[in-house]
Amino acid sequence: MTQVLDSDLTTLLVQDKRQVAKDIWSFRLVHPEGQSLPAFKAGAHITVQTPAGQRRNYSLCNDPSETSFCEIAIKLEHNGRGGSRSMIEQVQAGQMLQASAPKKDFELLDPSHEVIFIAGGIGVTPLLSMARQMSKLQLAGGQGHFRFYYCARDAEGAAFMPELQALQNAGEVSFHFDGGNPDAGLDFWPLLEKPSQAHIYCCGPQGLMDAVKDMSGHWPQGRVHFESFGVNAAQHATNSPFQIKLSKSQTVLPVAEKESILEALRKAGHRVPSSCESGTCGSCKTALVAGQVEHRDFVLSDSDKCNHIMVCVSRASQANDLIEIDL
Ligand code: FES
Repeated sequence: MTQVLDSDLTTLLVQDKRQVAKDIWSFRLVHPEGQSLPAFKAGAHITVQTPAGQRRNYSLCNDPSETSFCEIAIKLEHNGRGGSRSMIEQVQAGQMLQASAPKKDFELLDPSHEVIFIAGGIGVTPLLSMARQMSKLQLAGGQGHFRFYYCARDAEGAAFMPELQALQNAGEVSFHFDGGNPDAGLDFWPLLEKPSQAHIYCCGPQGLMDAVKDMSGHWPQGRVHFESFGVNAAQHATNSPFQIKLSKSQTVLPVAEKESILEALRKAGHRVPSSCESGTCGSCKTALVAGQVEHRDFVLSDSDKCNHIMVCVSRASQANDLIEIDL
């Protein structure tokens, strides 16, 4: 399991920043001295230290064979905790950023397969990298073929449309805009009714992933792959301040409304392993000693929730409550 500690972050230069859709900006990052960046697999992400202090995971959206730069895209989360806003408003081309090496919780297993990509909103980013890789390999004589379905509210809010249209020589790309009406969403049943040899890769809002999950339950195991971070429902939940008590030192720390327990611990000099920071990977699992917790992760079983907490997303149930953790 990948663990992110301070020493895992390195410095990258923001070479370019551009708006790619309403509320979405892309950042091209390079090594400050022009060296190659670490190799990665399509679907990988990096963790970035934002100017607001939080760490955020962003999928790499460039072709993985390109190592002179990497590209991420960030959506402005109007109701978020400030991480995306600080990246978009405070980070400009020419500045340095602290970022981790690429990590792969989600990856294109075999680009020579038949693949169905289903993207929603900013969830397009890891799938764009995968489609770019398949397109390049196909131009070089590879066998893979893809169909790419990109769902968004409208064309204005759909990032990388020209880039996706440019991949049509290697696959089929279609766009579906629902105008913000969930009843007008793409009907996946005709696409998923009959399982084929294809692998499905899906990344987007929870509603879209739930719909694909519901309609692909009869597909063979291991053929349907989901990525959820970056579109984490927990970021949109209402937050209140509370306190944590560290049982070993008996120290009490405040956790502010716009802060996670993990961030409060880091600020106080405590190091806790983490990776996804969206409640999906399991790295930050911590023993819970006392207190009522609102569990917001996708990892813990019901029985685990009695005595553990994922400190990257979960919080006290009530404002100003105290929860005690085994640190
Ligand atoms: S860091 Fe992944 S679940 Fe908390």
